[in-house]
Amino acid sequence: MTTTETGVIVDNDTTPAAWTRTEGAERATDLFRRTWDAAPDGVWASPGRVNIIGEHTDYNGGLCLPIALPHCTYVALRRREDDVVRIVSAFDQSVVDWEGTVEQIVPRALKGWPTYTAGVAWGLADAGLRPTGFDAALVSCVPLGAGLSSSAAVECAMVLALDEVNGFGLGGDDEGRAKLVDIAVHVENDMAGAPTGGMDQAASLRTTEGHALLLDCLDGSTRQVPFDLADAGLELLVIDTRAKHALVDGQYAARRESCEQAATMLGVDTLRQFDDLGWALANLPDDTMVARVRHVVTEIARVQEFVALVDEGRILEVGPLMDASHDSLRDDYEVSCVELDTAVDAARAAGALGARMTGGGFGGCAIALVREADADAVRAAVRQAFAGRGFTEPIVHVVTPAAPGARVS
Ligand code: GLA
Repeated sequence: MTTTETGVIVDNDTTPAAWTRTEGAERATDLFRRTWDAAPDGVWASPGRVNIIGEHTDYNGGLCLPIALPHCTYVALRRREDDVVRIVSAFDQSVVDWEGTVEQIVPRALKGWPTYTAGVAWGLADAGLRPTGFDAALVSCVPLGAGLSSSAAVECAMVLALDEVNGFGLGGDDEGRAKLVDIAVHVENDMAGAPTGGMDQAASLRTTEGHALLLDCLDGSTRQVPFDLADAGLELLVIDTRAKHALVDGQYAARRESCEQAATMLGVDTLRQFDDLGWALANLPDDTMVARVRHVVTEIARVQEFVALVDEGRILEVGPLMDASHDSLRDDYEVSCVELDTAVDAARAAGALGARMTGGGFGGCAIALVREADADAVRAAVRQAFAGRGFTEPIVHVVTPAAPGARVS
């Protein structure tokens, strides 16, 4: 077992453990004290997420079903009476500092991590909730660039902290949190320039422990779906392929644009409001657009079927829906990659009930739902398949639905 500089514990089987919330709070407080020789007002944590099913549906007004991960970003923060903002963040063995004023935090003025950290002050101000200056220290054990929403975890920890120290009063209930989600998404879209939907931030702020979040992106409503895997003798493996994934490149934006164009041509606001695939086939200009629409429409239906099975206590039967989701993302939406396909194929062949890529795609993570007794065999099979193809060794996390963002000290 080894510990990296930022404190991620790497087990012999390369499974990094998430920090406990107490440990995360201590690490953030420690960085704050070392940097500014003072105590923070408090520490706030917000988790990364993994989506169980419902991919590339959020920006189409569709349904998705994420869970919060035990991996969180932690921010120790102290409110200032002036306009000065000082931020230090230690992510992935690098330390980033930013110093300026609330005024100076505007789109295109910042680059890299400060767009997600300081950027939240702009997001709040743009929503009419101007924060005072502050000092903040951030640490995180959400794997970076793995498609587990490390950036949403940062935004959501910051927005919770700034909401509370400025007394805006939004973090205390789900209605207020839905507004904080919108602010965090605005930061991601218009500050960081990633045209994502709202699933990641909703997962970070609106989930509950032990539940998956059924999120309806058309009206923003949610339902907490009990998701007790151990009770069913199951484990959820999150397989980080370590193929780097980035949402700020053009592919994600191109998919979104193509869906929006299709919706306009089909005469609806979002693809959620459309379900006549035969008509789409006959009326859209090319096969690629038809395939994109087919993915979105069938994926939304799969989320409904998945939740219906879970509700009926038939979780052991959801595997084929996960498989169909992956195949649709690979063939119709074309957002998979060879590492994701290899992980999914190997997991299925070794007995997973179902397996699929999760998140935006083009790298990042796959998930496999496995019987406890098969977990080791599936893990070994994925490793072996990766070794056989000369890929970097994957990292496998076993996760259960964790708690949403909250003040932790
Ligand atoms: C990324 C985005 C989300 C969502 C997924 C795909 O994670 O941040 O908004 O679109 O991709 O489901």
